[in-house]
Amino acid sequence: MRMILVGPPGAGKGTQAARLVDALSIVHISSGDMLRAAVKDGTELGRRADEYMQAGALVPDSLVIDLVLERIARPDASAGFMLDGFPRTRPQAEALDAAMQAAGKQLDVVLLIEVPDALIVERITGRRSDPETGAIYHLTFNPPPASVEGRLVQRRDDTEEACRARLEKYHAETAPIVPYYEERGLLLRVDGVGGLDEVTDRIRRALDSRG
Ligand code: AP5
Repeated sequence: MRMILVGPPGAGKGTQAARLVDALSIVHISSGDMLRAAVKDGTELGRRADEYMQAGALVPDSLVIDLVLERIARPDASAGFMLDGFPRTRPQAEALDAAMQAAGKQLDVVLLIEVPDALIVERITGRRSDPETGAIYHLTFNPPPASVEGRLVQRRDDTEEACRARLEKYHAETAPIVPYYEERGLLLRVDGVGGLDEVTDRIRRALDSRG
């Protein structure tokens, strides 16, 4: 299965991807994780992407598109992938289409996780992640076990200010790609409000309903 996860910052894309990919036997490819790894490694791409990310702006298409297309062309993605955070703009969606067409492959599903803006800031500012395992927690909604508490980190773009900028970008640049996929019959909408297990069940049911 080749699928895309779309949703505002904090919708639960990363959380749900981690819960679903093993059962679907596909790889989780997060453009945000790839960019953060580039920043951490101090690569040229990371240096250029860093200021955009910290400000909650989108990294330019010219930097992101090649990064993700190169990743989905690797052998471990040949059986399928769950793209998280890409595409985020119309040019990214078109570049993905062109690459898939050239490879003779098709997208199966675009899953939109819907969460109202009013819930987003609390989700984002309470997020913590484990640098050793990559696990994502929330101080209130998904509390970490005491054994890992001491090593948890907060993302640099998880401030309230950057979060509001990311939400604005989502509505201006990313939400408009939803109709692009809806018109092609690829879109599945899932309510992202509720407990983590509840949302996972909704996604499973939505995917099953497509057969
Ligand atoms: P990216 O890493 O993709 O961030 P994002 O889209 O803003 O999404 P998040 O990772 O913040 O949220 P999520 O939906 O994965 O939520 P999560 O599961 O963690 O991108 C970061 C930056 O990189 C961008 O701003 C941009 O600069 C750049 N970038 C990346 N891709 C790009 C691209 N294609 N083009 C250009 N620039 C790009 O959950 C959030 C929190 O909520 C967690 O604490 C979690 O525990 C909690 N939570 C999850 N589900 C629930 C629930 N059901 N109830 C309560 N709490 C919940």
